[in-house]
Amino acid sequence: MTHVERLPRERTYLMSPPEHFVVEYAINPWMDVSTPVDTELAVKQWEGLRETLVRLGHQVHVLAPETGLPDMVYAANGAFSVDGVVYGARFKYAQRIAEAAAHRRFYEQQGTWNFVAPVETNEGEGDFAYLPDALGGGVILAGHGFRTEVAAHSEAQEVLGRPVISLRLVDPRFYHLDVALASLDDRTIVYYPGAFSAASQAVLAQLFPDAVVADEEDALSFGLNLVSDGRHVVLNSEATALAAKLRQAGYVPVPVELTELKKGGGSVKCCIAELRP
Ligand code: ARG
Repeated sequence: MTHVERLPRERTYLMSPPEHFVVEYAINPWMDVSTPVDTELAVKQWEGLRETLVRLGHQVHVLAPETGLPDMVYAANGAFSVDGVVYGARFKYAQRIAEAAAHRRFYEQQGTWNFVAPVETNEGEGDFAYLPDALGGGVILAGHGFRTEVAAHSEAQEVLGRPVISLRLVDPRFYHLDVALASLDDRTIVYYPGAFSAASQAVLAQLFPDAVVADEEDALSFGLNLVSDGRHVVLNSEATALAAKLRQAGYVPVPVELTELKKGGGSVKCCIAELRP
């Protein structure tokens, strides 16, 4: 497969620095309130990620972090945009509810977006992925089972006007879609089948025969929580085996160190919302 030339496309992202990041509550199996967090190191590592994206030619907007919202660094959860329309988030847990308003203000201040507030519980790009050119057009992949309600999938379809393919997550360690599946380019995905129900695995196998298939080790190293521009795949440096598989498939892995943010149950993708104007 190495003969395939993988072409990058310039992206616009939104990130929020972990200035207030700590683990003071546990809402996923990775979080342990007794583990010390080095917030300064978290900020340094986050800055490394931001610089990596800029060096690759992408634009990064920064959302000001707020005190009392330690998980705000996981900006992916704040909304989901497709072609200028923003489907807002509605967080499952009380500790994160206020983050949605901060994201909403960002889009409203930019003034170019059509922001739609959600009725149903959904955690933005944590549980929604977009493929601009798969199966004949733009397609949304959506996870449910732990955070986002399945009712939000049909709501997203009505708001965004793209078909939504519902996938059920079954392993609590992979509680968001974006720790189990990622888009590599406009039509290709990489995913760990074991994170999904047998029926959802069958759906993915049917629709994406060309997918890069990851294993449990890849998923546990947070390798799937990646961001790709179509060529460069920015991923957690611990995911060396997955990096090799991606190189084999013609992509260029770009490892980054994010050890502190793993303590909150996230990595590269969790820290980045893609803005699709
Ligand atoms: N501590 C956060 C939570 O449990 C981590 C969110 C990770 N974000 C993501 N997009 N998977 O909500």
